[in-house]
Amino acid sequence: MRDPYRELAPLYDLMAADTGIQAIYAEFQASIREALKSHHVGPRVVVDLACGTGNTTVPWVAGSRRTVIGVDRSEGMLRVARRKSARVRWVRQDLERLRLDMQADVVTCHFDALNHVLGADDLQRVFVNVARLLRPGGLFQFDLNTLYFLRWLSTSEKLFRVGPHAFTAYNAFDSKSGVATFHQLWFVKQGRLFRKVEVSVRERAFDDADIRLMLRAAGLRLERVTVQRRLNGRPVRKVYLAAKPR
Ligand SMILES: C[S@@+](CC[C@H](N)C(=O)[O-])C[C@H]1O[C@@H](n2cnc3c(N)ncnc32)[C@H](O)[C@@H]1O
Repeated sequence: MRDPYRELAPLYDLMAADTGIQAIYAEFQASIREALKSHHVGPRVVVDLACGTGNTTVPWVAGSRRTVIGVDRSEGMLRVARRKSARVRWVRQDLERLRLDMQADVVTCHFDALNHVLGADDLQRVFVNVARLLRPGGLFQFDLNTLYFLRWLSTSEKLFRVGPHAFTAYNAFDSKSGVATFHQLWFVKQGRLFRKVEVSVRERAFDDADIRLMLRAAGLRLERVTVQRRLNGRPVRKVYLAAKPR
């Protein structure tokens, strides 16, 4: 399968520097750190799944001797991540076939990464893999874009400027399959010219009842669902906290 993040990898952190995105990263960290405290879990081993360029992974390293692992299937994204920290163990694996011989206190998976898993069976497999990886009492935090958001995104075409580059975003939503395809057409500045780069990423939404059932079937308990962002009064992004019972 072609990696949709291959072309995006060198551009990803330019987008992630946006203050709105940095605020979302800070909220992910604050909510999992608060959950670890209230559940009396010491994060000695942290695994960040779909870690991308490591923005959700590297903060775990600061001022600690804990073991931190970042997992992603995109070699391009991991290449950027490796430059940020030699303390993190960067692993190239697909979440659907995840095999790490260890027990983690906390597993995270952020920035709609699980929306990239398009089949319910595939997501179930990911949850089973996470349950195997977590030690009893361990916590799993992830976030998802909602169906409302995926539909809403398909209603507009926009032009964005990112540093010296620009891209247009056009999103299509297929109501039969429930899959949204995000098309980006980048104009990447190179000297006096622009290089055209096309990227397309597919996402699917899952509702809370299905997530709860799938987590339960994997041996995990859904502890809470928090609405992180709303649009027109409707949730567009939610953060889920699950625990592996002791
Ligand atoms: C939107 S990025 C999020 C990256 C990072 N968590 C962040 O917040 O900046 C989604 C990432 O999920 C990864 N990804 C998607 N599906 C995956 C899978 N099945 N296995 C491993 N990585 C996957 C992509 O390669 C990409 O790096």
